[in-house]
Amino acid sequence: MSGRVENKVALITGAARGQGRADAVRLAGEGADVILVDVCAPLPGVLYESATPEDLQETERLVEKTGRRAIGGIADVRDAERLRGFVDDAVAQLGGLDIVVANAGICIPAPWDEVTPQIFDDTMSTNVTGVWNTVIVGAPHLVRRGGGSIILVSSSAGLKVKPFMVPYSASKFAVRGMAKAFAAELGQHHIRVNSVHPGTVNTPMGGGDMADAIGAAISRYDRLAPMFTSLLPVTWTEAEDVAQAVLFLASDESRYITAHEIAPDAGVSEF
Ligand SMILES: NC(=O)c1ccc[n+]([C@@H]2O[C@H](COP(=O)([O-])OP(=O)(O)OC[C@H]3O[C@@H](n4cnc5c(N)ncnc54)[C@H](O)[C@@H]3O)[C@@H](O)[C@H]2O)c1
Repeated sequence: MSGRVENKVALITGAARGQGRADAVRLAGEGADVILVDVCAPLPGVLYESATPEDLQETERLVEKTGRRAIGGIADVRDAERLRGFVDDAVAQLGGLDIVVANAGICIPAPWDEVTPQIFDDTMSTNVTGVWNTVIVGAPHLVRRGGGSIILVSSSAGLKVKPFMVPYSASKFAVRGMAKAFAAELGQHHIRVNSVHPGTVNTPMGGGDMADAIGAAISRYDRLAPMFTSLLPVTWTEAEDVAQAVLFLASDESRYITAHEIAPDAGVSEF
């Protein structure tokens, strides 16, 4: 039986762990070869552990266990030229590219008057410029292929504001807008572009001192605390739940869905 993305090739950023890893394993399990990018280095200003080269190797191992090919590379999505060099080479090795998942991102919560210019710049350069770089590097390969699917990972904070995250919310609304804008122009090449909006996902991003930082921020104006509530009675979702949405958008099952948002967020963006 053939898989839902059989013999397609996918580029995934932020693939060393978390959602990027889950996407890689899910797509490979449905027949795709994958190109895995991660910075694997200390992330600017974050309150959780950073990913390591060993994490990226583990994602490669998990993909290869499915019988598909994985090419992993260390690159910072903020560095377009380095990203292009690695991606172009990997695409040449795998014979083309069909799917782009721009997933790499960071989150630094803080009350509005504790956000430094550095935090704002780091968030925008990673979450917005990094996503833009990923599309600019990946899309020409999809044009050459005559079509494909681009998935930009935003957040429920790109549909409804998550309080105490001004830079993050700004970046994730920007990603949502970017998906629609690219969808308009790339439609002529049969390329679809959609955004995915997870809620709270059980990944390293939620670890470290994140819960304490959000808790401290909420204490500044606790009327906003219910904004983190989901409609379904769950506290978080798993990375694999988000990967299901990514797989759907990557596959031909969604062949006429473009310029849209999918939110596997347990309903937090509607609460
Ligand atoms: N975890 C959540 O609750 C949550 C909720 C909504 C949206 N998101 C978004 O989902 C995406 C994946 O997050 P996650 O939960 O898997 O977090 P994570 O921190 O576990 O994984 C993110 C990965 O991206 C990589 N990365 C960060 N900056 C990079 C850069 N400049 N270049 C290359 N790689 C870089 C990291 O090294 C890491 O491996 C992010 O865009 C995040 O904003 C996360």
